[in-house]
Amino acid sequence: MRVVLLGPPGAGKGTQALKIAKEFDIPHISTGDIFRQNLRDNTELGKLAKEYMDKGLLVPDEVTNRIVEDRLQKEDCQKGFLLDGYPRNIPQAEELDKFLEERGHSLTAVINIQVEREALIDRITGRRVCPVCGATYHIKTSPPKVDNVCDKCGSELIQRSDDKLESVVKRLEVYEKETKPLIDYYTRKDILVNIDGNKSIDEVFEDIKKALLGDRRNDIH
Ligand code: AP5
Ligand code: MG
Ligand code: ZN
Repeated sequence: MRVVLLGPPGAGKGTQALKIAKEFDIPHISTGDIFRQNLRDNTELGKLAKEYMDKGLLVPDEVTNRIVEDRLQKEDCQKGFLLDGYPRNIPQAEELDKFLEERGHSLTAVINIQVEREALIDRITGRRVCPVCGATYHIKTSPPKVDNVCDKCGSELIQRSDDKLESVVKRLEVYEKETKPLIDYYTRKDILVNIDGNKSIDEVFEDIKKALLGDRRNDIH
């Protein structure tokens, strides 16, 4: 199963990705997480990515495409993969199609999580993340059991540096201009599934699971 998760910042892509990856036993590949990990490891890639991420801008395509293609060539992607946050514009989508086609593959489904704009801002500004294990919380809707401490590994939670209001507004703008056109792109290919992301985390997951199980029956790759 080769799946792309599409949706604006804060839609719940990362939250759902963890559950989908576990349920279907496929690797979760988040370009945002790869950049953040590089930043923590203080690599050149991390430093470059930070310049763009803090401004809410996209990291240049040639850098991002190469990282994804390297990752997709790893053994664990043979059985499929779940891409979260990639592709994010038409050139990246075209590059991904070309990469898959050259290997006789194609995407199984593109899950488009739809959420109202006001809810997105609340979700992002209330988000807290664990810098060690990557778990995601929300101060109001899914708080940790102990204030500011990760339930899973006990580390102190942080706020992402691009979750400041100015960066969030810019990210939403970039989404509208660059990423939203992918909805048409994948609708034309007849692989887009719209999911109502305004429901609870568990309800959204049930809807995604249903959509993917339906699709898997037709998955001949
Ligand atoms: P990235 O890390 O991909 O961030 P994003 O797309 O802005 O999306 P988010 O991670 O903010 O939101 P999400 O949809 O994962 O929501 P989450 O599940 O956390 O990218 C960051 C940056 O990296 C980009 O700006 C860019 O600079 C760079 N980058 C990344 N990919 C790139 C690419 N392909 N090309 C170029 N540059 C790239 O949920 C949000 C909150 O809501 C959480 O608190 C959660 O608990 C809560 N929540 C989730 N679901 C629900 C629900 N159903 N009900 C209530 N609350 C919910
Ligand atoms: Mg995310
Ligand atoms: Zn943790």
